[in-house]
Amino acid sequence: MIRAFLFDLDGVLTDTSEFHFLAWKRLGEDLQIPFNREQNEALRGVSRRESLALLLQGKTVTEEEAQQLMERKNRYYVDYIKKLTPANVLPGSREILIELASMGLKRMIVSASKNAALVIKLLQIGDLIDGVVDGSSQARSKPAPDLFLLAAKALDLDPKFCLVLEDAAAGIEAAHAAGMLAVGLGPVERVGAAELVIPSLEGQSAISILKRLDKKKSTYTWA
Ligand code: BG6
Ligand code: MG
Repeated sequence: MIRAFLFDLDGVLTDTSEFHFLAWKRLGEDLQIPFNREQNEALRGVSRRESLALLLQGKTVTEEEAQQLMERKNRYYVDYIKKLTPANVLPGSREILIELASMGLKRMIVSASKNAALVIKLLQIGDLIDGVVDGSSQARSKPAPDLFLLAAKALDLDPKFCLVLEDAAAGIEAAHAAGMLAVGLGPVERVGAAELVIPSLEGQSAISILKRLDKKKSTYTWA
């Protein structure tokens, strides 16, 4: 019996994943490292530091240089997200958050990003959720289960009562490692490991997601 929905932020509730890509691409251009959307798939959902390591493709840098590069990427990223408004909440998201509240189910945002609080503020969705676990928590990033486990703990719920909504392979892996079921948003090639795959939250409802998961119950082992 699901009692909470744990939403990833970037790429699930808003399209900031595109801005992460553009910021890394710009840093790549500064460093003359070619970087395209295909390569970006490996960065989706993973931490800033891990993303830098993937962008550098084995090129070694000192810790000081790494810090400067991560800060530069973040300046580029923050420059993009400054313009976010409530209109940037992806279709269907607000409606599902409201529906969940009316059903008495909990809603948390669980993001690896240290910018999550700023994004949530600009989107004005803070009053639609029960809490946030983000990159400022010092926990290990996805695909480790830590962020999702912290969310379950904050809600005082057993992980098996939490359902994760994710657009990244690393996020689905983290959900499973936490003992949670996952809904994957996006192409099967990326999120096919999830118990249920949907293109996005547009046109979806919490009830229909729960019903479809329930129908597929025999195809997975409940945590
Ligand atoms: C995740 C994004 O939500 O947060 C990743 O999907 C990003 O692309 C990660 O690298 C860390 O974000 P930030 O804002 O702390 O650099
Ligand atoms: Mg994401």
